[in-house]
Amino acid sequence: MSTLDTRILGTTEEEIKLAAEMILRGGLVAFPTETVYGLGADALNEEAVVKVYAAKGRPSDNPMIVHISEKSQMGMLTDEITDDMKKLMDAFWPGPLTMVALAKPEVPRVVTGGLDTVAIRMPDSKPTLDLISVSGCPLVGPSANLSGHPSPTTANHVDDDLHGRIDAIIQGPDCRVGIESTVIDMTGEIPMVLRPGIVTVKELSEALGKEVTIDPAILKKPNIAAGEGLMETDEDYKPKSPGMKYKHYAPKAEMIIFRGDPEKVRLAMAEEKMERVQFGQRVEVLVYDNEHPEQAAKEFFAKLREFDKTDVDVIFATALTEDGVGLAVMNRMFKSAGYNIREVK
Ligand code: TXA
Ligand code: MG
Repeated sequence: MSTLDTRILGTTEEEIKLAAEMILRGGLVAFPTETVYGLGADALNEEAVVKVYAAKGRPSDNPMIVHISEKSQMGMLTDEITDDMKKLMDAFWPGPLTMVALAKPEVPRVVTGGLDTVAIRMPDSKPTLDLISVSGCPLVGPSANLSGHPSPTTANHVDDDLHGRIDAIIQGPDCRVGIESTVIDMTGEIPMVLRPGIVTVKELSEALGKEVTIDPAILKKPNIAAGEGLMETDEDYKPKSPGMKYKHYAPKAEMIIFRGDPEKVRLAMAEEKMERVQFGQRVEVLVYDNEHPEQAAKEFFAKLREFDKTDVDVIFATALTEDGVGLAVMNRMFKSAGYNIREVK
């Protein structure tokens, strides 16, 4: 891949216009959102979308989310806008919710990873909504990291991973949510959450006034196969969102999740830390509490990136209850730790 001169842009009108021109020429521009930074390209330009997969080193069967700036753009992507979808659009857009709908034939199959459905979201970020409006086309926007790295929550994270591989990065505020959007499949009788996020199953169910299920594969422990970063897809683990089967977010250091009564966990962590330090190891600790799972969501990926820049040997993290926002955090934490869990009795 040839090296590009990645420009860092601000959010002035001129800079957004410049970024839009890059997009319309088939270029790649990373953009801020409230969840994580995305890697933008014209969703209807197949060549540009192929370049996004290459820049990220992403497997081509992992479909991308299409970002829009106005509800009216839904019609470019799907013919089926159900009443339930309208309810969720009204309740959560712009915001950290992605809906999977039946795709129009015009949506390039390279965007959908060959599926006949398309994932759509309206992000809550003014510069990015402006970028979409000015360029006049929906944008694909996978997280702007190298495949397998933690998702980026600052423009610097994007630059660390993708410098020389993309045309520009729009530098916005650091991401306030910190983990990727909730993905919900709206194509079935009962809506199903495929990827947990800050918008919870309970909130979705309340907004719809009906039951919402959760892809059972999310809650199961997969077998992690060696090599390729792929998780083994066995009988018990067939997630409906292709991205969920990949091994993600692994830090360089070993990571251990401590689970159990908070006081006992605190003691067990302190004891094991002391032992390891005596053996000359460097230990970092992430302590989270169930009262503030949003705080854990906001900093978790950024912490992993911070640790990767040091010579830390092992990371200890406390488990949250797998419920509400805690479920979304634990979904990421389990993968980062390769399901390395210490049950504290
Ligand atoms: O918050 C977010 O969603 C961020 C920001 C940039 O918007 N984007 C993001 O994109 O996380 P990405 O590509 O890293 O994750 C997209 C997820 C993957 O797990 C993918 O498999 C799933 O959405 N997905 C995309 N299209 C799908 C479809 N048609 N059916 C099922 N899952 C789909
Ligand atoms: Mg991603």
